[in-house]
Amino acid sequence: MLLPGQDDAAIEQAAETLAAGELVAFPTETVYGLGARADDDAAVGRIFALKGRPADHPLIVHVLDRADALVFAGALNAAAERLIAAFWPGPLTLIVPRAPGVASAAAAGQASIGLRCPAHPVARALLGAARRRGVRGVAAPSANRFGRISPTRAQHVVDEFGAALPVLDGGDCEVGIESSIVDCSGRAPALLRPGQIERGRIEAALGAPLARPGADAPRASGTLEAHYAPRARLRLMPTEMLNTALQMLGDSALKLAVYSRTVPLPPGSRLARRAMPDAPERAAHELFAVLRELDALGLDLIWVEEPPAGAAWDGVRDRLVRAAAAA
Ligand code: TXA
Ligand code: MG
Repeated sequence: MLLPGQDDAAIEQAAETLAAGELVAFPTETVYGLGARADDDAAVGRIFALKGRPADHPLIVHVLDRADALVFAGALNAAAERLIAAFWPGPLTLIVPRAPGVASAAAAGQASIGLRCPAHPVARALLGAARRRGVRGVAAPSANRFGRISPTRAQHVVDEFGAALPVLDGGDCEVGIESSIVDCSGRAPALLRPGQIERGRIEAALGAPLARPGADAPRASGTLEAHYAPRARLRLMPTEMLNTALQMLGDSALKLAVYSRTVPLPPGSRLARRAMPDAPERAAHELFAVLRELDALGLDLIWVEEPPAGAAWDGVRDRLVRAAAAA
């Protein structure tokens, strides 16, 4: 059920639903989330059941501000404080030690917790209305079935879960890929998942280089090798290889689509092609919507041109590598 995100009454209704322990999907600046009150293990259990997510994969808790983060965080070290000051509200999730006894289902029993303070006005309105009902944090993974493509439009969420789920419609998500995740629970902060906020900006805010995630780094399902999978098999190819493969293809009967930045279709080809934008933030913005659209064509294969080198493309490259690994 789509609810208009700009509408105060719809926000109040959605907050009421959350407060009652039921699920609500809502937009953030990154992707749509599937939310439940974080302090209610039974409500959080409904997220795991609906997504088909294994119970040992922790969820991110969304908070309105630093004060509410402290409800869930046992402690904020200097690194966490710096990142909060630099990037909240915004597309950055921090993994910090968890306050004892709170949000244990959301944290999947781990001693740490993922905290994110979203910037999207509809998410903030919802968190504000929920807080007035005593809800200090909303646990929300991306609103897709486990292992599938994250939703960047309200309709994507309806396509995943059907019309019974309340979905606040906030239009297209601006960023388009999930938040950067920085683990601040250990000695040296490490980047667990690249997002829009580039590694270099995070290091500048920390005043120190990020460490490599250690073998003891907390588990992140967004860091599973195979994730973000379309139904068609996705192959990621260097520019020259894609060019050659297309030249050699002839008029094969393969149900194939191409998503490329610099490689055109051969003359006369009737394959579907979408052009990848030259700017990495534009490419991120549309990535999941394009993969969903191409996937809806009932293809065998999606051939994707590798993004260019450089940190600005880390987020997009990461999602494509994982989608290809699932093929
Ligand atoms: O942009 C985003 O982060 C979106 C929007 C809805 O906020 N959310 C999102 O959630 O991408 P999800 O569940 O699809 O991915 C969250 C990632 C997972 O890889 C999870 O394992 C990791 O965060 N995570 C959450 N809590 C954690 C913890 N305590 N320790 C380690 N990883 C954690
Ligand atoms: Mg996800």
